[in-house]
Amino acid sequence: MGAVSVETIQSVKHYTDRLFAFRVSRPQSFRFRSGEFVMLGLKVDGKPLLRAYSVASPSWDEELEFFSIKVPNGPLTSRLQHIQPGDEILLGTKAVGTLVLDALLPGKRLYLLSTGTGIAPFASIIRDPDTYERYEQVILTHTCREVAELAYGQELVAAVREDPLVGEFVGDKLVYYPSVTREPFERQGRITKLMDDGVIYEELAVPALNPETDRVMICGSMDMLEDCKARCEQAGLTEGSNARPAEFVIEKAFVG
Ligand code: A2P
Repeated sequence: MGAVSVETIQSVKHYTDRLFAFRVSRPQSFRFRSGEFVMLGLKVDGKPLLRAYSVASPSWDEELEFFSIKVPNGPLTSRLQHIQPGDEILLGTKAVGTLVLDALLPGKRLYLLSTGTGIAPFASIIRDPDTYERYEQVILTHTCREVAELAYGQELVAAVREDPLVGEFVGDKLVYYPSVTREPFERQGRITKLMDDGVIYEELAVPALNPETDRVMICGSMDMLEDCKARCEQAGLTEGSNARPAEFVIEKAFVG
């Protein structure tokens, strides 16, 4: 399982009856790269119950932020959704993952494709000044079933643009591209459909996905990963890793 430390909940914010975010004290020794995940959880019946959670905060932040789904019968989230400031939480000491800038070759445009809580690692990446030093344009897509589920991302993007530290790096490089699939919204449909129909490229006035210029990170459900991966491969992009950087990387968003 690896080593864990006992940390303290600093704040909790509920977005919908399915989604909430919380902030946790950060041990001084805890280092991570933007986009990585860590094991996190609670002691249940005297035993640690841990799941992989992407760190949503940037590496310069004094606290650690996480964005979670609430699953009514989920072993961990059915309990975690009731946490309050001051409560204890277990945090793994080592962060890992493939949704990191170092797993991609240099490029011009970075696509961050997310659904649901899959936005969490990208919440870290879009708050990292390094992202804007490496790319001319950063396109964050977030697709949810319902409009209310976009709120975390909407707040995040607004805050990043205003941030005294990161704001000047962001400039006009960050493009936020939300869509909703099960309710009326200004943009509807799955990201895969918006790509297949060329809608995203038209709306953003960018060329279609191209291995010469474009890099992609993908985070969502298993099906979403498969379908987005297929679009990347069709466009000629190859999958990268920490050991062998390439043109796109994927990671499953935490569920349950
Ligand atoms: P849809 O409403 O059409 O299923 P989930 O909560 O199931 O992970 O879904 C989050 C969002 O991801 C929803 O908007 C959902 O659309 C979308 N989605 C689900 N499966 C895929 C997929 N295979 N490719 C792209 N988007 C998907």
